[in-house]
Amino acid sequence: MCGIIGYSGSEADAINVILEGLEKLEYRGYDSAGIAFLDGNKIIIEKKEGKLQNLKEHLKDVATKSNLGIGHTRWATHGVPTDRNSHPHYSENKDVVLVHNGIIENYQELKNDLLTSGVKFSSDTDSEVVAQLFSKLFDGDLLSTLNKVIEKIRGSYALAIIHKDFPNKMICCKNHSPLIVGLGAKQNFVASDVSAVLKYTKDVIFLEDGDKVIVEQDKVEIFDKDNKSIERKINKIEWNFEQATKGGYEHFMIKEIEEQPEIIEKTLNIYTDKNFDIKFDEQLEGINFQNIDRIYIVACGTAYYAGLQGQYFMKKILGIDIFTDIASEFRYNEPIITDRTLAIFVSQSGETFDTLMSMKYAKEKGAKTLAISNVLGSTLTREADNVIYTLAGPEISVASTKAYSSQVLVLYLLSLYIGLKFEKIQEKEYVSLIKDITKLKTNIEKIIENKNTIYEIAKIIKDTQNGFYLGRGIDEKIAREGSLKMKEINYIHTESLPAGELKHGSIALIENGVLVVVISTDLEMDEKTVSNIKEVKARGAYVVGVAKKGSLVSEAADKYIEIEDSGLLLTPLTAAIVLQYLAYYTAYAKGYDMDKPRNLAKSVTVE
Ligand code: M6R
Repeated sequence: MCGIIGYSGSEADAINVILEGLEKLEYRGYDSAGIAFLDGNKIIIEKKEGKLQNLKEHLKDVATKSNLGIGHTRWATHGVPTDRNSHPHYSENKDVVLVHNGIIENYQELKNDLLTSGVKFSSDTDSEVVAQLFSKLFDGDLLSTLNKVIEKIRGSYALAIIHKDFPNKMICCKNHSPLIVGLGAKQNFVASDVSAVLKYTKDVIFLEDGDKVIVEQDKVEIFDKDNKSIERKINKIEWNFEQATKGGYEHFMIKEIEEQPEIIEKTLNIYTDKNFDIKFDEQLEGINFQNIDRIYIVACGTAYYAGLQGQYFMKKILGIDIFTDIASEFRYNEPIITDRTLAIFVSQSGETFDTLMSMKYAKEKGAKTLAISNVLGSTLTREADNVIYTLAGPEISVASTKAYSSQVLVLYLLSLYIGLKFEKIQEKEYVSLIKDITKLKTNIEKIIENKNTIYEIAKIIKDTQNGFYLGRGIDEKIAREGSLKMKEINYIHTESLPAGELKHGSIALIENGVLVVVISTDLEMDEKTVSNIKEVKARGAYVVGVAKKGSLVSEAADKYIEIEDSGLLLTPLTAAIVLQYLAYYTAYAKGYDMDKPRNLAKSVTVE
């Protein structure tokens, strides 16, 4: 959480570059935003509680231009969101200023020592301790001072630091928090992720833990954890700046929902050939599936729900037991891991702390690890044995939509790839299942064409306080994702349950007007699901059905959205797209900012 950016250059105005970059990083947190820049020899700091817009308003009359600056967008951990606790933080004598993403775990101990030695603090944050420490330990050399600081601090950090005696440089470092360096002509950048610098450069270095970097306008020097000056690989980023803009849409979320057919096509084009063969040989090199006797899929939030669908596909296709777990629980559930275990970690950002820690744990126990991630060079992809990238492009809206469907699709392809390779599936069935992906694309396009029907329903349900999402089998996994989408952007309390489970207690909550969303894409179970609709309707519930053509839900529900057949395994994903729209339009009707829901951040880099 939190996003940081730094700029050193003569090609643009640092203030402008930083504000543009912060806009791209705001998905990482929006409790406050701040900037520090050099004005002559003076460091100017401006920071404001709340979204970046507040800072922009505040800065609109600043005429100064600058060649060096750092910026921050905050997701509060230590200290409530106020101007005072906003970054950048500076030392008491204001010679050092910094921005920080991460948590300094031993900050209290360090703060106590500094307080005892007479240092005065001006915030409640852990980050300020680093600024004060840097100032106190300053020996005239940026690198040697940073090394002394690093020796004392414990925890996760990406730091960008300016010292007033070095008006042309910033020094940065990272440990367990992401930091990239963007390289340009007469200008260089650091940022928490590439989207912040894409407008200016596509040449990017992903720093490693322990790296320190000194950034000037025409020089970037990297030192590894042993202080050896090193060259790191320069990556060409394929994402373009336009992908990270709203491109004419009112919100990122709807843009990202509507990009899904195109992403499905791209995934199919890139990962299969004209004979329908899945091209995962390179991505899965070194994994001897004959030797694998247990597969875990581990992730958080929406990525976990994608994992549950993956589990369903693999079980059905491979006929073996697959285990799925939430990353924050995995390490404590005593998973049985040997060198015959394949552990798959699903993460859009590739930076989710619990997912990273779960991978570390699985590796230590001897598992082969496979990352499914959307972000090139993210920590998860660097640390996994093998990687398959989802091809969703930058996902900016906090609520995951296109990354989710891309994850489901990659898990689907992975199941088919393993299934065919190990003759768990016949060629004919395989081809038919691959062709379902094309149907999926067409059927999602149909949903997009008819989205107004969903908007009309959203207007009816927008004032609901409580609701249930129900489904059976794979539809129950979709119910979980639909419920999360509704909760996170609308602040409506919803719960998802297997449809048959409701009567074992939760039905007590059904009364007049309670929303019940029912998903039914497997017609074999349709009649049973319809019985559950009757049970809740008899008690006053307002039922919205999302079901496959031919389902009896059309008659039983108060409102009904029909989806078309994309095969047993993929039709549920089309239902999930309907539920993304339902959540989006509900927030739209309520006038909420669905791209930046309260209390949330896109990457959860704390435990
Ligand atoms: O970046 P990750 O995929 O690891 O993120 C995991 C969850 O935090 C994420 O899926 C979250 O649940 C979504 N933002 C919800 O829409």
